[in-house]
Order: sequence, then C-alpha cells, then structure tokens
Amino acid sequence: MNRFYKDVVRGLSADAKYLDSKYFYDKEGDKLFTEIMACPEYYPTRCEMEIFSQQSTAISRLFKQYGEELELVELGAGDATKSIHLLRSLVEDRVNFTYYPIDISSNVIKQLEDKLPLALPGLQVKGLNGEYFEMLKQLGNTPGKRKVVLFLGSNIGNIPSDGVNAFCKELRRYLNKGDLAFIGFDLKKDPRTILAAYNDKGGITRRFNLNLLHRINNELGADFDLSGFEHYPVYDPGTGTCKSYLVSLAEQRVCVGDTECFDFKEGEPIHTEISQKYAVAQTDELAAATGFKPVKHLFDSRHWFLDAVWECV
Ligand SMILES: C[S@@+](CC[C@H](N)C(=O)[O-])C[C@H]1O[C@@H](n2cnc3c(N)ncnc32)[C@H](O)[C@@H]1O
Repeated sequence: MNRFYKDVVRGLSADAKYLDSKYFYDKEGDKLFTEIMACPEYYPTRCEMEIFSQQSTAISRLFKQYGEELELVELGAGDATKSIHLLRSLVEDRVNFTYYPIDISSNVIKQLEDKLPLALPGLQVKGLNGEYFEMLKQLGNTPGKRKVVLFLGSNIGNIPSDGVNAFCKELRRYLNKGDLAFIGFDLKKDPRTILAAYNDKGGITRRFNLNLLHRINNELGADFDLSGFEHYPVYDPGTGTCKSYLVSLAEQRVCVGDTECFDFKEGEPIHTEISQKYAVAQTDELAAATGFKPVKHLFDSRHWFLDAVWECV
C-alpha cells in the first residue's frame, strides 16, 4: 500500500487529526510555494536570500578550509534559488564538488537537474528524489570527501520541537567528524510579522494549505469539499511555535478511497504544518546536544534569520 495513503489514513484517524507537511509538495504545491516565497509578507526567503547573495563568497571560503573536495548535499532543495549563489561562488573558487539536491518532489529534482547545469556550466549535479535520510543513506560515504549538508529555508522549523533533537542526531549519524551542517533557522521576532507570513493578504498560504486536500482528492480518490475547510494559522510567542490548521466549517464526512471514511465536527481542526521559531542560544544548545559544534553564525541585516554552520565533533 502506498505510503502517502497510509500516512493520510493514520493522520485522519488520530484523535487530534493531522496531515504531514511533507505532502504539500506536488506540482501545484511546488508552484504555490514559489509564489509564497515571493509574497510581501513571507520574509524568511528574503532574509536568507540576503545572506546568500551577500555572503556566499565568505561561505565558499569557509567550506574550502574544510576540504578541497566536497560533497554538497541539500536537504529539501526546492528551487535552489538561494543555494545557486553559493554554487556559483564554489565554482568560481574552483572547489572540487558535486551538488546532491535531495527532495521528495520528483518535479523539483527534474527541474534542478535540467536547469542548474545550464545556469552554471561545469557544475556537477546529481539529484536524489526521496526522503532526507533514505537518500543520505543511499549516497553513502566517499573516502577523502567531506560532506557539507545544507538545510535551508527554516525547513528545520517544520520539525516539532520534541523531535528536532532526534532529527539532528540522525543527521549526525550519516556524517563524519569534521563534516559540516549549514542550517537555516527563522528567529523569534514581532509575533505579528511571523503570523502575517503564514496568512498573507493575497491568500497564497491559504491556497497552499488547501491544496493538500486537493492532492489527497486527486491522488487517493478522496472527496474533500475544499469549500468546507478554512486555513487557520496561529503563533504562540511563548513557545515560538507557529501552527497551520485546516478547520472544518461544518459537520461532514470525508472518504479517502472506497473504504476509509472520517467524520468531522464543525470547528474540528486538521493540523497541517508547524514552523518553529528559535532564539540564537537555542540553536547553539541544539548543536551541542546532538554531536555538533557551532562554528559560524550568519545573519541578515535585521537579524531575523540565522544560517548556522555546525561542525561534526
Ligand atoms: C519549504 S520548501 C523549502 C525549499 C528550499 N530549501 C528553500 O529554502 O527555499 C521545503 C522543500 O523540502 C522538500 N521536503 C519536505 N519534506 C521532505 C522530506 N521529508 N524529504 C525530502 N524532501 C522534503 C519539499 O518537497 C520542498 O521542496
């Protein structure tokens, strides 16, 4: 049985219904996410873009100190619009490296493999289509080559706080002493700024969230009535957790395929995404607790976003 189906049935059968955010990214979800990144309220992309467009030469030099031959792995690469600045600097710096974008979206991987070698002649790209750790396992180890793992866009924020230590420890298991992780954290700031990023006036985040139900209809033969659910994000400045829900607007029954049906009460939420915000000290503590040592903090000019460089110890 297909994993998507199993995960959807498990999530909708839970007392507090949920759907895994990794399933946002079908072709339409990829397109909507690109629109989100361009919308005025979604500051994280612009902050991290500032870091990459202004500090890529310094980042490339830092990586070069760790090894002349690198495997540059990117977890959840998306359209790589930020990492392309770094790829260009590494090519210009004549670092001997291969870029391995990992993404669960086959559409993303195909586009990167088609477009990047045209944009950056000489770049070696080998896309890996699948889950983060399954693909890291498949990649394995090449003696003499340092790994640098990029995890940008505050994707790490999509991991609930009670699971993030285990995630970083697992990442560490695929790396060797001296390898690097380069992780983008969205930092705590004015709660109104944060909430607006997940509730843009143009309604793109709303369409992105609802597209998950559309995808389940399309791929798993479900009968979600999209007009019966509303996008509802909340941010708690106490915990730094932003959560997005799809709330049922009426009592209704939804079937996924022929056999699995789920009852919704009016006002019942499906939790679809978490976006955790961090304080800088929390990221240092996370590194130290999971087998890494923070070696560099890179900020945008407003200090709204942190790209942290961690060395495996
Ligand atoms: C929020 S987008 C960020 C894209 C890019 N890193 C950026 O900063 O713009 C998340 C990307 O990670 C991919 N993704 C999410 N969960 C994944 C998983 N468990 N394994 C592999 N890829 C995943 C999605 O397909 C999507 O392209």
